[in-house]
Amino acid sequence: MNKPEQDVLLRTERFVQQCLVRDSSGHDWWHIHRVRQITLSLAAQEGADSYVCELAALLHDVADEKLNDSKESGLNKVRSWLEQNQIVPDQIDHVMEIISTLSYNGGSNPPMRTLEGRVVQDADRLDALGAIGIARTFAYAGYKGHPMHDPDTAPSALIDASNYRTAKNGTAVHHFYEKLFKIKDTMNTTYGKELALERHEYMEQFLNQFYKEWEGE
Ligand code: ADP
Ligand code: NI
Repeated sequence: MNKPEQDVLLRTERFVQQCLVRDSSGHDWWHIHRVRQITLSLAAQEGADSYVCELAALLHDVADEKLNDSKESGLNKVRSWLEQNQIVPDQIDHVMEIISTLSYNGGSNPPMRTLEGRVVQDADRLDALGAIGIARTFAYAGYKGHPMHDPDTAPSALIDASNYRTAKNGTAVHHFYEKLFKIKDTMNTTYGKELALERHEYMEQFLNQFYKEWEGE
């Protein structure tokens, strides 16, 4: 990576820190830090353009609706940032495409068009899994005022993916069935899948232990 690219990454890092400084809903700077780190490992494994991947990883949550008046105004903010920093138009378009199509959306988005997009999407999904994923889930539930668990509605009514919506009552434990346990089957890259499976199994073990302790075993 050349010096101008390194400078852009450093400036972008500071820009993102400023944008996310107020957030406590799971889109804090350290989420970006982790996604960036996983992105770099995946990009190396997959032979993706690591500069585009790293820029997209850094910027992927800046346009989030929760932090902006609308998705569109968030995306405009990111585009003007990239334009101010003399990034070549092709790279700007590529980064914009990645961050505007990356989010989970109930798992129903069309596949990412480019390898770089698939890498950054995998990295973002991996940060919802494993030990960090568990911690984020309980932190989010606390932030929303949801209970961590309600044994009267979970888990048997929820295990079937077809009925989780009707059974939904907003507990941290529900979120594992609503989203987290589905993520491993949506991964794009070989290495991403491997990591997702490891983190998936870790979450299963966690819930097994959680249910046992709940019953005083
Ligand atoms: P992202 O698209 O980056 O996953 P979200 O805002 O959907 O962002 O979620 C932020 C974090 O909070 C993630 O770790 C996610 O799994 C978790 N989360 C999202 N919705 C819920 C929920 N209803 N209950 C518990 N955790 C949640
Ligand atoms: Ni994210």
